[in-house]
Amino acid sequence: MRKLISLPRMASCAWLVAASCAGFSLMAHAVTPAEQLAGYTAQAGVPAQPQRGQQLFTTTHGKAWSCASCHTAQPTVAGKHASTGKSIGPLAPAFNAERFTDSAKTEKWFRRNCNDVMSRECTAAEKADVLAWLLTFKP
Ligand code: HEC
Repeated sequence: MRKLISLPRMASCAWLVAASCAGFSLMAHAVTPAEQLAGYTAQAGVPAQPQRGQQLFTTTHGKAWSCASCHTAQPTVAGKHASTGKSIGPLAPAFNAERFTDSAKTEKWFRRNCNDVMSRECTAAEKADVLAWLLTFKP
């Protein structure tokens, strides 16, 4: 009788380990900038427009800050946080290999920064536009 009870327990234990391993690889979210752009574009259902991305990035939206306040209007160079003064690496992937390679990080900062600048989250189309613009910069 004991065996009959402990076997399913062991099985569910193994399942939990497998599930947390799968969870871990999902948490890492390793992607390329091109894959993230394709994802946002698919979500938006319209082609990305780099010029619209530049405009979103360099203008204010009814508040004190634009994206460029911290990232500068030139995403090939390091920016500086508008309130803490901390250095921020370039956003253009060709000038910073870590950029847009972790979808969880990208999502977290889009959420936080769009809220700071626009008082709302950016839409998938807006994220696609910004990323498409950042990808136009070549070394
Ligand atoms: C108050 C300063 C500030 C403003 C304003 C700001 N950002 Fe950022 N942003 C940061 C910081 C800090 C990070 C995280 C540090 C890092 O990744 O170097 C970051 C990271 C990001 C990332 C993460 C990129 C990646 O590596 O995947 C994106 C995307 C981003 N910002 C977009 C924007 C956009 C779009 C706007 C305007 C809507 C904006 N930011 C406005 C400070 C700012």
